[in-house]
Amino acid sequence: MATSYFALIPAAGIGARMKGEQPKQYLQLAGKPMLQHVLDTFAASAAIAHTFVVVSGGDGYIEDLISAAPHLIGRVTALYRGGLTRRESVLNGLHAVREKVNDEDWVLVHDAARPGLTVALIDKLICALREDATGGLLAMPLVDTLKRSGPDLRVDATVPRDRLWTAQTPQMFRYALLRQALENAGDVTDEASAIEAMGLRPQLVEGSQRNFKVTLPQDLLLAELFLKGIA
Ligand code: C5P
Repeated sequence: MATSYFALIPAAGIGARMKGEQPKQYLQLAGKPMLQHVLDTFAASAAIAHTFVVVSGGDGYIEDLISAAPHLIGRVTALYRGGLTRRESVLNGLHAVREKVNDEDWVLVHDAARPGLTVALIDKLICALREDATGGLLAMPLVDTLKRSGPDLRVDATVPRDRLWTAQTPQMFRYALLRQALENAGDVTDEASAIEAMGLRPQLVEGSQRNFKVTLPQDLLLAELFLKGIA
């Protein structure tokens, strides 16, 4: 049986650092909700068989979003299975789709809060990893000098930055391996950490600055510049 590629978008966070009235994934950015940028990109990728989006049990936005976007109907399924942490949301999503996905199929887990993802970046990740035994993730080599501080904000140490990367998403692993890794993992903040805890070494594939995670209110403007093609 041919291997398929699925997208899984955890979108059940409340975005506390954004301090908004709505969860941040539904804030309007360049004319549409942040989450829709991500869903549109996966729907436009010929490689992706289907996209699953994990929202909280009480989510009151996703149904309207999908029904207002005819090109998403049949390409995206909402799973009302959000958990207390990102890891829980992803794992709940993986359990919910077990009948639809084969153990060897690839799952691309992508943050709803990274609206700058492009079809080209998805293709780059898939091309780099389709024959890989482990899987991997988009990431950026660190360019700034890195400091570790004490609680008083004074520098305790400068950390050599060579071979340091910041992890982005999508993070792409085979379904059964990813599920097992997340079931065994503690409180990890990304999928790769769970895979690493099994003694495996995910492949890093260079991402893009435009795929940054929108977290703070001041990030919204930068995200809009990227989405409108100005930056
Ligand atoms: O909060 P943060 O930006 O790190 O969240 C990363 C992604 O994980 C977001 O898409 C967010 O909606 C999702 N998330 C989730 N369930 C949680 C917490 C975060 O799906 N309990």
